[in-house]
Amino acid sequence: GSVLLAYSGGLDTSCIMAWLIDEGYDVIGFMADVGQEEDFDAAREKAMKCGAKGFILEDMRREFIEELIFPAVQANAVYEDVYLLGTSLARPVIARGMMAAAAKNGCEYVSHGCTGKGNDQVRFELAFYGLKPDIKVIAPWRIPEFYNRFAGRTALLDYAASKGIPVVQTKSKPWSTDENAAHISYEAGILEDPDQTPPSEMWKLTTDPRKAPDTPEEISIEFTKGLPTKATIGGKTYTDAVELFLAVNEVGRKHGVGRIDIVENRLIGLKSRGCYEASGHHILRAAHIGLEGLTMDREVRRVRDDLAKRYSELLYYGYFYSPECNYVRACIIPSQVTVNGKVRLSLYKGNAMIIGRSSPETLYSAELASMDTVEGFSPEATSGFIETSAIRIKSYGLSQTQKGLG
Ligand code: ARG
Ligand code: SIN
Repeated sequence: GSVLLAYSGGLDTSCIMAWLIDEGYDVIGFMADVGQEEDFDAAREKAMKCGAKGFILEDMRREFIEELIFPAVQANAVYEDVYLLGTSLARPVIARGMMAAAAKNGCEYVSHGCTGKGNDQVRFELAFYGLKPDIKVIAPWRIPEFYNRFAGRTALLDYAASKGIPVVQTKSKPWSTDENAAHISYEAGILEDPDQTPPSEMWKLTTDPRKAPDTPEEISIEFTKGLPTKATIGGKTYTDAVELFLAVNEVGRKHGVGRIDIVENRLIGLKSRGCYEASGHHILRAAHIGLEGLTMDREVRRVRDDLAKRYSELLYYGYFYSPECNYVRACIIPSQVTVNGKVRLSLYKGNAMIIGRSSPETLYSAELASMDTVEGFSPEATSGFIETSAIRIKSYGLSQTQKGLG
């Protein structure tokens, strides 16, 4: 049979490639360009050296940004209050590229190098089955003959040597990363101690906030129905989604915006410590929330907030291609009809502070909010509101007083 392998160019997937060939499969390597820094030519060369029958590189940056990142901004998606879901967002797009390539090249099987303890195995495989229900998955890190044989780095290194797989002896980093346009993640290795402060050289994409420019930089972001449609940065305007996102990323990284460090709950039930850099996404999300304050109805917002939480969990848990995820996404879109306008931010040493916002859709009335006039409002009316609201509060207060707790 023929296998399409999600190939990273690293030691694990190179050994998986050679092992699958040993097992009698024809293997084609697949790599998606989702905005990671990568030497794609070197990866292709290495895949071929491992014995691949072919190598496919797919540029998926546009659909990643337009179909996953921007809708996540529109929903204010976030997992466990902190993680902006950079890896979770990329998986559905990579899976889509893989299923198209598998169909085109007659691959009956797909394979990947995800571990049995992680989220990515679930995200990939549920996405594969949602897109191509008859696909067969080979997950070597869940197959005893593979994981027993290759337990520990030395077994992999020995095997690579025996197969003539070039092992790039860069000083190996004591953590594992996953990079795309939305972010870079750092997990495992020395980060497994949640109280171990990451060394400053770990952070690859952002300037150390302490060394970021001493002068704040003002940028503006415009939204149409909750999606970013224009950014003005350093006198230049960006309207193309890819250019816009990459430009916001660049300026955000320069000012050290978007570093986080969390202990998160993985789907299978274990806790994992992760560090992330997500500059552009952080800025766009902050700007979007800022504009919603001005343009969105309070009660619509409350309903949307519940949906956004569900949406974020579905993304994290790998249910992008599911009926419930399609439903939730479709429900979030109409909440955004009024989210049109412009937000100005100041970037300064790790912060993205909102310094102004404007919209043709504003629900805000300076006259109504003013502390200086009573225009359009009768103060006495609030007395009844407070009196009615106090019925329940007074009962509770009384019961507490009777118990001597008041
Ligand atoms: N913990 C993050 C998530 O589950 C990042 C995963 C990184 N994946 C990887 N293969 N290194 O989304
Ligand atoms: C892995 O375990 O393969 C990476 C981390 C994750 O998927 O959560």
